[in-house]
Amino acid sequence: MYTKHLVVDQQSSHKNIKIAATLLQAGEVVAFPTETVYGLGADATNKIAVDKIFQAKGRPNDNPLIVHVATNKQLSEFVTHYPPYVDQLIQAFSPGPITYVLKSNGKVAPNVTAGLSTVGIRIPDNDIALELLRNCQLPIAAPSANTSGKPSPTAAEHVLEDMDGKIAAVLDGGPTIVGVESTVVDCTEEVPKILRLGKVSTADIEKVVGSVYLASSIEENISTPRSPGMKYKHYAPDVPLILVNNRESMQLIIDQNKEKGLRVGALVQVKTAKAIQADKIVTLGDNEEQMAKKLYDALRSFKQDEIDIVICESFSRKGIGQAVMDRLERAATKITE
Ligand code: TXA
Ligand code: MG
Repeated sequence: MYTKHLVVDQQSSHKNIKIAATLLQAGEVVAFPTETVYGLGADATNKIAVDKIFQAKGRPNDNPLIVHVATNKQLSEFVTHYPPYVDQLIQAFSPGPITYVLKSNGKVAPNVTAGLSTVGIRIPDNDIALELLRNCQLPIAAPSANTSGKPSPTAAEHVLEDMDGKIAAVLDGGPTIVGVESTVVDCTEEVPKILRLGKVSTADIEKVVGSVYLASSIEENISTPRSPGMKYKHYAPDVPLILVNNRESMQLIIDQNKEKGLRVGALVQVKTAKAIQADKIVTLGDNEEQMAKKLYDALRSFKQDEIDIVICESFSRKGIGQAVMDRLERAATKITE
């Protein structure tokens, strides 16, 4: 299949968004930007279209997809009653990088929810995504537009790396703003529960609704990273990654790996970069926001320079840093002092 590369710029934006909307209405798969990462979209009411997403990604079919809608009203068309705190969360954070898991009313195709009685649904905060959703007038099921298990794409080039020839088109809106996927919150019980960390932090949610739980899979990952409870490997870079908790050990570990004859990459903050020597050094910026934005591009970048192993330092868990560290801990082949 030929994959159309539809660039959204001043002249062609509306035209290319229309083309993408028409492809979605015809049951094709189209990648599009959101504020978090690029999504791999298909009509959420069309089972055959949704099947194409699973095929293109190589995604296990028991892992449900997030449905994207343009408005609160459209969101309410796919769910049954929900606790009152959901309206408070919507008011505070949507459109934005947060996904609500709510009881489904069965209007989306069964493969979207992997047969579950709940549906994950969100309103993305991205003009192109919103115009696309309004144009096609459909709920759009969209996981991140990467091959299953790889880092999520934060630019159209990343999407094409994984999906060229497998999908109808990619709508190219440039690099995404946030850089890590939305916060997923289970809103089916009396107290909301975070299933996946993201830009909207635990503290942000607590401020709005009083209390919030963390899913046991996240807690386990914090207390004993590499816990075998994780069902799927995630965010794995093509090059093995060692996450180093103690910054003082960085150079030692780099040198030990160089002595083995390996080409060693380093993933560090700007201020650490000055004190480090490696075959390739990639910096993730100076604050948590910049780190989130650059993270997945950085993870993808080592392959091009034939790096054998990446040594990565641990970063601050403040704000979105919580989600960045969560992703790195899941991406790491090893975590060490
Ligand atoms: O930022 C994002 O959320 C991006 C953009 C494209 O919107 N999407 C994304 O989708 O990251 P994906 O498929 O890569 O991750 C969706 C996560 C998975 O961990 C999935 O298990 C969970 O959301 N999820 C979806 N529906 C669910 C449900 N009904 N119950 C529990 N978890 C659900
Ligand atoms: Mg994903």
